Amino acid sequence: MGLVEARNLPSHVAIIMDGNGRWAQLRGLPRAAGHREGSKAVRRIVRAARRLGLKALTLYAFSEQNWARPEDEVDALMGLLRDYLLSERNEILENGIRLNAVGNLGRLPALVRAVLDPLRRETSDNSQMTLTLALSYGGREEIADAAKEIARRAVSGDIDPEDVTPETMHSLMPSLKSGDPDLVIRTGGERRISNFLLYGLAYAELHFADVLWPDFSEADLHEAIASYQLRERRFGLVGSGATVTRIAI
Ligand code: IPE
Ligand code: IPE
Ligand code: MG
Repeated sequence: MGLVEARNLPSHVAIIMDGNGRWAQLRGLPRAAGHREGSKAVRRIVRAARRLGLKALTLYAFSEQNWARPEDEVDALMGLLRDYLLSERNEILENGIRLNAVGNLGRLPALVRAVLDPLRRETSDNSQMTLTLALSYGGREEIADAAKEIARRAVSGDIDPEDVTPETMHSLMPSLKSGDPDLVIRTGGERRISNFLLYGLAYAELHFADVLWPDFSEADLHEAIASYQLRERRFGLVGSGATVTRIAI
């Protein structure tokens, strides 16, 4: 494990897997080839996360906004998702992984739902690691859904609007069932969140890696976690004496 300390592991790591298209473009290949290589990186990183002993891994695989991409690219992504679920089924079961999915799952094609839904059911009692795929996911959409649910409860008299707290909202966020993300990694060089886990990000540590997702290795994951382990999380409180380096000017 090299750089990573066994203690002080982030419990929940979330990854914005970006850069598949550019990986393909750099090689003069169609974007779908980048997604295919990206799905190999998913296999690699799920295994690495399990080996490290992470309790939860959330992967941003497809955003609500990604539906607006060209149809052939969307079709390729959905096909790869199905292939991934079929080919990893045994390993997911053998490793005690609980597979979950968050997002507007009703928009996913039947060919994906036909493998996703049974695997979610079959693994629902597993407890070694929760692997959550964010599919047709949007952070704003998730917040709007929670607001909608609270409005419904208020209308039906099940909740007093005065009693709505951040905890109420939190309990209505499917993406936070495994707890808030401790560490969010984005590959591919962009320094933005792109509508991922907006509510849960409040105190997440962010790690941006320039490496394109298909090239993201186990060592890159270790590097991200090692950088997380060097940070002092303060949650708005006073620090415990981290050294301050001043530059003489
Ligand atoms: C991430 O790679 C995968 C998805 C968003 C589905 P991209 O396809 O966004 O790759 P780039 O950012 O264009 O390189
Ligand atoms: C974020 O990447 C979505 C996923 C990784 C699934 P995008 O490539 O869609 O984000 P933008 O367009 O660069 O913001
Ligand atoms: Mg991208």
